[in-house]
Amino acid sequence: MEKLTQNPNNEFDLLNIPDAFNDQAHLYMELMMMYRCAIREVQTKLEVLNDEFSVRYQRNPISFIKTRIKSPDSILKKLQSKGYEISLESIHCNLHDVAGIRVICSFIDDIYEVARMLTSQDDIILIETKDYIQNPKENGYRSLHLIVEVPVFMSDRKQPMQVEVQIRTIAMDFWASLDHQLRYKKDLENAEQISADLKECADIITATDQRMQIIKYQIYGDESGNFLN
Ligand code: GTP
Ligand code: MG
Repeated sequence: MEKLTQNPNNEFDLLNIPDAFNDQAHLYMELMMMYRCAIREVQTKLEVLNDEFSVRYQRNPISFIKTRIKSPDSILKKLQSKGYEISLESIHCNLHDVAGIRVICSFIDDIYEVARMLTSQDDIILIETKDYIQNPKENGYRSLHLIVEVPVFMSDRKQPMQVEVQIRTIAMDFWASLDHQLRYKKDLENAEQISADLKECADIITATDQRMQIIKYQIYGDESGNFLN
């Protein structure tokens, strides 16, 4: 990250030195461009796997993919809340979710199959796994989270970049989006009741996901391209 740390000015300096501000703004855009490229690399890998799978087994393990780059505001808030230095190098070293990919699958076993296929590729380094399906959060949140590192090939160098991949079922995604809305709604009178209802829904969703998986095996058997757990 040498190129990105040429001007390690703090925020105060940026306001007072227009040249430094421009330099930093340019380097920030360059860093975000590299995160966008990293997302494209991982997204293409997932799409290729999905295509191959559909030719081989006549079905798609991935229903759809969403991507996002963390906004400058969220990046700044996260650096501040965790007590990290506010610099480009700090973003690169300390934040693992600037580039985010959400992969939505129909079935639970597809989640693990997609994760296995992606992380077994030899240019992908698995940095961290958090399995909130085996170990759901207390509120009922379920998803498989991976932090992977992928090389981005620039004109003069190869830059490893980290991407957070969240893999979940359609039902888990539906649940998470409502839970997310609850988090950002302040001053709800019946927040406790809503949390309890959401937790109950999470359990119902899990039971349904598990039954759907059993039905899938009854339809496809072993030809579905998955390994029975
Ligand atoms: P960070 O430092 O914030 O990344 O903490 P962490 O690494 O412990 O976070 P974790 O891997 O548990 O979660 C990261 C992301 O997962 C969040 O930014 C959300 O997108 C998603 N997530 C985690 N927990 C929840 C949850 O309870 N509800 C919803 N809706 N999303 C969640
Ligand atoms: Mg995280």
